[in-house]
Amino acid sequence: MPCLPLLALLCASLLIVAHGQSSAVTPIPRKSVFHKDFHGKLFQEDGVWNYTTMLLREDLGLLMLGAREAIFALNISDVSERKSAVYWRVPEDKQRECTYKGKNADIECRNYIRTLHQINSTSMYVCGTNAFSPTCDYLTFADGQLKLGDVHEEGKGKCPFDPFQRYSSLMVGNDLYSATSINFLGSEPVVLRSSQTTLRTEFKSSWLNEPSFVYMDMVPESEHSTDGDDDKVYLFFSENAVEYDFFNKLMVSRVARVCKEDMGGQRTLQRKWTSFLKARLDCSVPEPSLPYIVQDVFLLSGDNWESGIFYAVFTPQSDSSDLSAVCAYSVSAIRDVFSMGKYKTPVSVETSHIKWVMFSGDVPSPRPGACINDAARSQGMTRSLDLPDKTLQFIRDRPLMDDAVRPLTGAPLLLKRGAAFTRIVVDNVAALDGQMHPVMFIGTESGFVQKAVNYDGEMHIIEEVQPFETPQAIKILRLSLSTGHLYAGTESGAVQMPLSDCGRYASCQDCVLARDPYCAWSLTAALCSTLPRSPDTAPHGSLLQSLKEGDASSCPQSAPVTASAVYVAPGNNIRLDCQVDSNLAQVNWHFNGQPLQTTAPKHFLYNQGLLIFNSSASDMGDYTCQAIEHVGAHEYPQVLASYQLLPPQATTPPTGQGDQSDQDQEVSFTEPPVSQITAPKKKPAGGSGELSPDQPLPNAQVRKITGLQVAVAVLTVTLVAVIGFALFFSRQRLRSRLQKARRTTKNGTAYQPASQDKTDNPRTDQNCNDSVNTVTFSRKGTSNGPAVAIASIGEESEI
Ligand SMILES: *[C@@H]1O[C@H](CO)[C@@H](O)[C@H](O)[C@H]1NC(C)=O
Ligand SMILES: *[C@@H]1O[C@H](CO)[C@@H](O)[C@H](O)[C@H]1NC(C)=O
Ligand SMILES: *[C@@H]1O[C@H](CO)[C@@H](O)[C@H](O)[C@H]1NC(C)=O
Ligand SMILES: *[C@@H]1O[C@H](CO)[C@@H](O)[C@H](O)[C@H]1NC(C)=O
Repeated sequence: MPCLPLLALLCASLLIVAHGQSSAVTPIPRKSVFHKDFHGKLFQEDGVWNYTTMLLREDLGLLMLGAREAIFALNISDVSERKSAVYWRVPEDKQRECTYKGKNADIECRNYIRTLHQINSTSMYVCGTNAFSPTCDYLTFADGQLKLGDVHEEGKGKCPFDPFQRYSSLMVGNDLYSATSINFLGSEPVVLRSSQTTLRTEFKSSWLNEPSFVYMDMVPESEHSTDGDDDKVYLFFSENAVEYDFFNKLMVSRVARVCKEDMGGQRTLQRKWTSFLKARLDCSVPEPSLPYIVQDVFLLSGDNWESGIFYAVFTPQSDSSDLSAVCAYSVSAIRDVFSMGKYKTPVSVETSHIKWVMFSGDVPSPRPGACINDAARSQGMTRSLDLPDKTLQFIRDRPLMDDAVRPLTGAPLLLKRGAAFTRIVVDNVAALDGQMHPVMFIGTESGFVQKAVNYDGEMHIIEEVQPFETPQAIKILRLSLSTGHLYAGTESGAVQMPLSDCGRYASCQDCVLARDPYCAWSLTAALCSTLPRSPDTAPHGSLLQSLKEGDASSCPQSAPVTASAVYVAPGNNIRLDCQVDSNLAQVNWHFNGQPLQTTAPKHFLYNQGLLIFNSSASDMGDYTCQAIEHVGAHEYPQVLASYQLLPPQATTPPTGQGDQSDQDQEVSFTEPPVSQITAPKKKPAGGSGELSPDQPLPNAQVRKITGLQVAVAVLTVTLVAVIGFALFFSRQRLRSRLQKARRTTKNGTAYQPASQDKTDNPRTDQNCNDSVNTVTFSRKGTSNGPAVAIASIGEESEI
């Protein structure tokens, strides 16, 4: 049986993978920037949804945005500024017709703008689903106004019927390449070139088998070609595999390509591609799994086309895992598979059953699927129409390559647990060392944008940013180098965000340990500054950056943190703030020079500091909060805050300002997060009382104890004891639960129930962040120093 070796191979590879690391450890974003601290621009319009098509018109200073029944021209430097809009609604009769065919009037029978391409300096081409009746038109922008041409061309094959179906399209010159379904049912996939000679794929499952199209781009391979080769259009998609049969339906990721000058065949493959070749795209993750599925791709162009690299995001095809991956493929590696690799061929086994195996017979010449090149020309074939039937018949029946395309470094560049990756763009950034570093911006299902790099195999997530207020999947990402901004679209809006925000790094250590290629610490300005795009113009001498090593040892010593005096009456609760810059730092508290033994219900350690309940004489003394960040073999300790707890002064000022200070210090405390000392601390970025470690802490206020306050204190003490106990017990419970959870993961089962993963897996940092984010301190008054407070506990905490 010829299928056995294949099956064995696949099982073997699964086993090899299974014996490796069974549950991949994935990086935690160093910083989390939540929506409230996000300083970007948002565009949305009432009653308009599905902002998922974009076209950058840097030449006009515009971002063209396609949504449901509307196209907007926005200021590319400030997308909240709308320059013009056109509405393209579905005529009533069309909508009625659509509902007669069984589609939902308000959802499917609308016009979703799906295709938006530039034709020339004044004209654009736009297509919409138009109530399951795809239609295209010309769009112009003149005198500050958008205008639709009212041409209403047939859009079949250029734009999907079904707004929920994935598709891809590309404009090359005046030719529109599109990959979508060409019929109402969505069952007839096609890769189409609409041009003078319209070409399409053969309707055969060996060509396209229930595909989901993801991305297309052109590579100018004719440039400096030594063999007179043609430019090529690459297409990425997933489809049902024909080459494996151990599963009913097994999806695989594919890359396919066609030649730009293809004109189809004369007799065989008339008006069909003679150059359609496809190969499996490999992206193996370090845990046993079915093949991962490509979701989006970005072509990072190099100095020449050969150094181009496709970056692709992958997610699992079953929901047994919450791991996402980025794999990169060099254009030349893909090209080699197509131009030199072996083909697969179908063979019949056991009468009706078809197996795909490697073709080992004689391959006709010219090579099937090759573009017309000098070799073909020397044989008198100048167009694909001249190709011999033998070559064409071969390719018609065998469009699949035997070899898979392997990722650049053999492994994913990034792996992450948590919300699934949806979209990717990549910027090649020149760093201070003169090297180029590809920075990946990855959108997720939960609406975060991850900014990540891979330094010689080490995965590092510089930050995660939440540009939208509510969790929503990022459906489109675009990068503009001329504005230095990223544009993200979702069903409910579009945002613009800077590629870097170096000002967010407050200290030299924070700036250098961020390992962000866009940023360097300026010793002269004592600021984390943005590097110019061309590093040659930068005054190197005074800038510090250490990307691969994360070496912050050259940073100037930051000024020692002065201890703040805190006067505490016995029985009071005290909150000592300590804000950490990095999710990767560990926090340690010291008491009188010794590591603080945090004991419940006395102490409570959380992401913003330390709580001490029912203080007594034995709690008086010096407290310091230290963050330690490890990078490689180095560790960088940094004292963030220091307090001196003192008994109340005998000369307590009388009441009077009592009210004021009371307000400053009142803290209402809801849902305390349970954190362990050893857990990396999450910082809800820019939360109240952000401490810059370089600044001396403002002096703590002296607590004033009035008669009334004493009475209140006595009452609170009682309350606190009760809550303290509740806290203690629930914490114990949670801790043992956590330990149990950890033990299970250690025992080698990589699989966790998907539903749990998405909601309360303590190891997915996204979720950690979410839970951290729910901790709210509402503090009356305006004090934002390291306030010392009686915790007048507002609500009873429930864990
Ligand atoms: C359009 O947006 C709405 C609102 O978020 C969503 O429910 C719907 O699924 C979207 N439609 C498509 C075709 O994506
Ligand atoms: C776009 O916005 C920027 C910044 O707000 C502004 O300077 C510029 O003039 C605007 N461009 C246009 C074309 O209005
Ligand atoms: C741009 O393309 C449109 C549509 O093909 C055409 O009508 C128009 O003349 C072109 N304009 C220029 C300036 O080339
Ligand atoms: C507070 O601590 C003191 C001793 O320091 C103890 O006597 C008292 O019972 C404690 N109060 C509560 C409510 O736990």
